[in-house]
Amino acid sequence: MPLQELHEDTYLQLAELMHASVGLSFSTAKKPLIASRLAPRIQRLGLSGYEAYVDLIAGCDDGGEFQMAVDLLTTNETYFFREPAHFDLLESELSRTRPQRLRLWSAASSFGDEAYSLSMLLADMQQTGRIGADWSILGTDISERVLRSAVEGIYPEDRLRHVTPERLKRYCLRGSEGSAGLVQVQERLRERVRFGQLNLCRPVEELGPFDAVFLRNVLIYFDPPTKQAVVERVLTQLRPGGLFFVGTAEGRVPGVRGLTPIAPGAFRKEGA
Ligand SMILES: C[S@@+](CC[C@H](N)C(=O)[O-])C[C@H]1O[C@@H](n2cnc3c(N)ncnc32)[C@H](O)[C@@H]1O
Repeated sequence: MPLQELHEDTYLQLAELMHASVGLSFSTAKKPLIASRLAPRIQRLGLSGYEAYVDLIAGCDDGGEFQMAVDLLTTNETYFFREPAHFDLLESELSRTRPQRLRLWSAASSFGDEAYSLSMLLADMQQTGRIGADWSILGTDISERVLRSAVEGIYPEDRLRHVTPERLKRYCLRGSEGSAGLVQVQERLRERVRFGQLNLCRPVEELGPFDAVFLRNVLIYFDPPTKQAVVERVLTQLRPGGLFFVGTAEGRVPGVRGLTPIAPGAFRKEGA
């Protein structure tokens, strides 16, 4: 049976809950989209409608359903070497500075594609003597579901379409028979990347300092004040002189001081 429509007051309640808890910003225009994303889930749970669903996720005893709602309302879309200019920029910066120790943070890592792309780049750079052997990467996201998958490092081949054949050979294992069409990142890279859950809209404990932070394609979910607060919070973990990346489509970060733009979506933290 089709669900009754999502009433305005229920929608506002949902929007307020998502904004207060995880910073997501939903305008009135997004109501049809939100309704269509949640409907199949509500029907699957056998609930009477949107009101019952919002009551469930607003309560303490939701059996993990709040997290599921966040997953349904955001997109985890990601792939290896997305926006390659950022990886090229990092490579030329590191080739110039030749650091012996490096810490990088993929701050909305989704399934880990970004973090493992960075690990391939750093492994190559170590191999050619341009950086030292002491490097590691932290990947964080709010969604436990994507993090569980990130730790395994298994992907449909298509997600690695921008990985060069040499890197595929060097750093990935191809599945066969039941796993045909899947690729796993090799253990020697997986052990360089740690994943953990982190809500960017809550205070961040001491994680850094990092030499570069990738905060790409997540700011789009936030309204301007939340965007600014998230960026300022993340920047406390970046060392002066370190590189900061947002999605190229996310543009300038309004209100944030202390960043020098160096390329589309790429900045250097001032104060080095
Ligand atoms: C589109 S993916 C971006 C993945 C990767 N950075 C990239 O550019 O390909 C956005 C991710 O942000 C995460 N996210 C949304 N709100 C968040 C929050 N408040 N704290 C941490 N992560 C969040 C989502 O779970 C999702 O995995």
